[in-house]
Amino acid sequence: GLGLLMGGGACPSCRGTTQDRPEQYGRPGGVPRLKAGLGVIQYGLGLVWHHAGHPTRMRCVEKAVLRLKVNGAVREAAALPNAILLDVLREDLNLTGSKRGCDMGTCGCCAIQVDGKPRLACLTLAWQVEGKEITTVEGLAAPDGKLHPLQKAFAECGGSQCGFCTPGFLMNGAAWLKDHP
Ligand code: FES
Repeated sequence: GLGLLMGGGACPSCRGTTQDRPEQYGRPGGVPRLKAGLGVIQYGLGLVWHHAGHPTRMRCVEKAVLRLKVNGAVREAAALPNAILLDVLREDLNLTGSKRGCDMGTCGCCAIQVDGKPRLACLTLAWQVEGKEITTVEGLAAPDGKLHPLQKAFAECGGSQCGFCTPGFLMNGAAWLKDHP
């Protein structure tokens, strides 16, 4: 209400105060301007702008528990609604096999499999794949440690070169071979 308008309250949607970013929402504390009426208008517009920025509450909500089935095991992480799958895999789940190369969907270093199909983790929101079967390069070998035939071939033929993009080649190649035995 009035307290929020004066900058002393919390936004009911994001629970942050509207004074957190005065450059974005205006400065209600500018009492002389409030007295002149202009500050009220400015701050009112600021509130409209503030709420227009998160009509779905996606921008301001807090982290929530994300459950991903990765390499056959259910893993949990605290993730924002806009968390990128590659970040969750590497930083929260410590699965660093998937690499960040271009971070824009062109190099393929970050390729994983989702329900057996290749997918670029740098272009995937983590919440999009909740409930799906995710496989990273760490899960490509058999549970007993036996390498996937493609991994074996890479090792025997020196296919890795520097190795940075190898996980992407393996995950894409293994998915392709499954469809083209
Ligand atoms: Fe290059 Fe994802 S990091 S495609």
